[in-house]
Amino acid sequence: MTPVDDIISGIDTLKPIPPLAAQIMALAEDENSSTVEIADLIVHDPSITASILKICNAAYFGLSRQVNSVRDAIVLLGLDEVIELVLLNATAENFRDEPAGYGLGEGELWHHAVISAHTAKILAENHGFATQKHLIFTAALLKDIGKIIMGRFVAFSYEKINILVHSKGYSFSEAEKEVIGINHAELAARVGQKWRFGDQLIYMMRHHHMTDENARGNPETALVYLADIICMMIGYGTGADGLAYRFYSEVLDRMKLTEKDLQNAILNTGYRRQKLDKLLSLV
Ligand SMILES: [Fe+2]
Repeated sequence: MTPVDDIISGIDTLKPIPPLAAQIMALAEDENSSTVEIADLIVHDPSITASILKICNAAYFGLSRQVNSVRDAIVLLGLDEVIELVLLNATAENFRDEPAGYGLGEGELWHHAVISAHTAKILAENHGFATQKHLIFTAALLKDIGKIIMGRFVAFSYEKINILVHSKGYSFSEAEKEVIGINHAELAARVGQKWRFGDQLIYMMRHHHMTDENARGNPETALVYLADIICMMIGYGTGADGLAYRFYSEVLDRMKLTEKDLQNAILNTGYRRQKLDKLLSLV
């Protein structure tokens, strides 16, 4: 078994995505599906009901009455919010422990995942990709799941990675690839394959750092990439890899976004930060 095979076999240590969340992800990728179909899945899945009701009835949402069913939650909070809660609930378990090697504090990887998912969703809504917002949200949420497995290998090779980043001009993911033989984005894509995600979702996870030039022309992946950059700029998930990633201004140009748009997105994310921090404590 090669070291890379050893790392890939670590995917089996993750808690698999529950069937409901996997079905939502598949529908989110299918252009012919509707949010009504997603709602139908959620209300007919008894396993999710208890956790959704617990979250919805927390003071955080400030609802005027008790939520007694998933249908209630959809009426009171809106379907989009409930879909996001299901996806967060499905993925939170894997992010409970911060991975070694990335210099992240307790819960920081999870915070980064959730804030970047919300940021990517808002970018999608504001820049013409509203119909794909659940797909873009999911890709941003799961893009760094490879770090959970890679962590101990990064910790072991940290000195070599650090030299490449600080003395040779490598980005962190380029250095991971060079030293370890695979980077966390490729590993996230492997997770997606193992969990039978759709091709588009896997593609977005694999290319979220845009190291492949071709991916820079893919608008959905670009939104995930920009959300990641924005979160790092405001200090979410800035561990050892911190800002050691490349900023490709051509991505903004291709998306017809200006620096002002980027600044506004940074401000919006900063503004929502406190609210999302409270939500994170509930999931
Ligand atoms: Fe990443």
